[in-house]
Amino acid sequence: MLDRRFPDGFVWGASTAAYQIEGAWNEDGKGESIWDRLTHQPYRVVDGQTADVACDHYHRMPEDVQLMARLGLKGYRFSIAWTRILPEGRGRVNPKGLDFYDRLLDELGKAGILANITLNHWDLPQALQDLGGWNNRDCADWFADYARIAFERLGDRAALWATHNEPGVVASGYSSGMMAPALADATQGYRVIHHLLLAHGKAVQAYHQGGYPGKIGIALDLQNLIPASDSEADRMAAQREIENHHNLWLDPIFRGTYPQHLLEWLGPHAPQPRSGDMEQIRQPLDFLGINHYFTDKISFNPGGGLLRTHSEAYSAPLWGRTEVGWGVNPSGLTKILLKVKDEYGNPPMYITESGTAALDVPDANGFVTDRERIAYLRSHFIAAHDAIEAGANLKGYFVWSLMDNFEWLAGYRPRFGLVRVDYPTQKRIPKLSALWYQEVISRNSVYE
Ligand code: FCB
Repeated sequence: MLDRRFPDGFVWGASTAAYQIEGAWNEDGKGESIWDRLTHQPYRVVDGQTADVACDHYHRMPEDVQLMARLGLKGYRFSIAWTRILPEGRGRVNPKGLDFYDRLLDELGKAGILANITLNHWDLPQALQDLGGWNNRDCADWFADYARIAFERLGDRAALWATHNEPGVVASGYSSGMMAPALADATQGYRVIHHLLLAHGKAVQAYHQGGYPGKIGIALDLQNLIPASDSEADRMAAQREIENHHNLWLDPIFRGTYPQHLLEWLGPHAPQPRSGDMEQIRQPLDFLGINHYFTDKISFNPGGGLLRTHSEAYSAPLWGRTEVGWGVNPSGLTKILLKVKDEYGNPPMYITESGTAALDVPDANGFVTDRERIAYLRSHFIAAHDAIEAGANLKGYFVWSLMDNFEWLAGYRPRFGLVRVDYPTQKRIPKLSALWYQEVISRNSVYE
């Protein structure tokens, strides 16, 4: 048996996001977010579900931190609901909202768990959406002001910060009519991308100017995208998707440029930077957060939207599809980590999300024997270890997710948690994967 040992100080953690777990959507002065607005409309989310209560984490936070401590987590990644701190997105601060995250940091500190905070995990204040949201260039400044308030109050105790989580998904909310705010205008989508990048740059600059003790980065979704065949049309299609999902973010952030081929392809839809914007975006980054779940095969498809592509899940031999239809291909993770190493100067990296939805069947006590999830995690930990051995500067791994939660448009059906949540009673029951992960963390190694 091969013992895959991770570097000393490797941060093993788990991730959540505010809207997916907190509930208390209108309590203690919290304002309405675009996700509150969307889920309260009919025919948006499966079965009309909302995250009004979700995992009720807002009221159960101390017990949840104790649970993390029992599992031996070294780190916890969560996001701040912008609307708890600034109910209208700007202006008036809601002290009770700040107090909640302050208490969370204190609890984590007592438990010796490192805090990894995301500022924007998609739940933009509705009051700002009423002004155009991310389609309004001013949103970059509103975001930087919100970030400064969070840094000032919480910056003394947070080790890691991310500006945005998967900003491409935020932009898709303006271009493909599904995710909040559910608008469908391709040109808006690319304008939004530029404003998200500007917001990122401004917040990173503010953080560095403030001299806080932690580190700041961004969490990008970098899936492995491969051509469906050797044909030139499929290879070019894959190249466009890679530029659209990877380079569109990595190039401005690390190099201060947009990918040229993609700009030409997009023509009038392409982002239109003003003078000075690209310098503002390209701020020194302390680390890169990577969310990685799957590999997709890309082919040319004349009816496939602006990029004229089609994506299909790919699984390596012997792996099936996951419960949400995603493919499983562990070596895709190695490839992504080595790509960032080779093409972007090997910055410190964290896996900020990776995990799987499995068909969890609880026994009479609510215990779930989720061998599929263990197989997924083990193989991806090993893939990450392969990348470390090949020189990737990987510092930690945050599993998605600490507990089952509200999976956006899919509602509560997909269960991604290490811990089962029995929603009617809100009971937390660690699954077999949580017990297995506890062992991995305590040994700092994975048996192969
Ligand atoms: C990611 C999201 C996260 C969760 C997982 C399954 O794209 O960042 O909130 O929904 O997928």
